[in-house]
Amino acid sequence: MVEFLFVTDLDNTLVGDDRALVDLNNRLSQHRQDYGTKIVYATGRSPILYQELKEEKNLLEPDALILAVGTEIYLDGSKIPESSWSELLSPGWNRDLVVATTSKFVELKPQPDTEQRSFKVSFFLDQEDAEKILPELESELQKCGLNIKLIYSSGVDLDIVPRNSDKGQAVQFLRQKWKFVAERTVVCGDSGNDIALFAVGEVIGIIVGNAKQELLQWHNENPADYRYLAQNFCAGGILEGLKHFGFVE
Ligand code: GLC
Ligand code: MG
Repeated sequence: MVEFLFVTDLDNTLVGDDRALVDLNNRLSQHRQDYGTKIVYATGRSPILYQELKEEKNLLEPDALILAVGTEIYLDGSKIPESSWSELLSPGWNRDLVVATTSKFVELKPQPDTEQRSFKVSFFLDQEDAEKILPELESELQKCGLNIKLIYSSGVDLDIVPRNSDKGQAVQFLRQKWKFVAERTVVCGDSGNDIALFAVGEVIGIIVGNAKQELLQWHNENPADYRYLAQNFCAGGILEGLKHFGFVE
């Protein structure tokens, strides 16, 4: 067995099957103890919503946290986001201008205040409206000279973030810091905001069996032998994938 960088989304990926989660947690914490494997959560949640889930599901203490769809990185239990990451996201980002531009679209329903972050403006948007307005919204934002990216997940969540920020690029930051090659980096996810996890840097990927249509479609269009679509759901699918790639027995 070898050490690896284990990165997982939370909602409907690590979390969703309580029994399988207990089993996976036991194996991961043992692996960390025996080989120095690192555990990272990469979620769209803000610090407040992350903390709620961590307590509710008794999650393992991670070695690093990627929150707010990759716009915030926290190391070693710190409560303050990594400033060297924030500095990379600032050029071309103007939060007020994003908010002003989006206010013209009545279909966009703002998410709760806790989920509005320095580098993330988030809305609820249904699938039908998304198809209708996303191209126009993107071009309006670009017309203002904003260097942004739209991330649409699960047929309901729209996040607007700096172009050079997503879960995948945040993982790259950690890989460089901790010196993990792609073959020793495992990322797991279930929905649209996880596509970047799989797309950046040919890392080993595990898509859980309950994945959403937008991720499955992307996977079908971009198949790769270093990415595995599990049959089992949530933590059970992660364990299946870790066995498939030989990271656990
Ligand atoms: C989480 C966040 C939300 C975001 C969604 C998708 O649910 O709380 O703000 O839109 O993930 O990234
Ligand atoms: Mg998810």
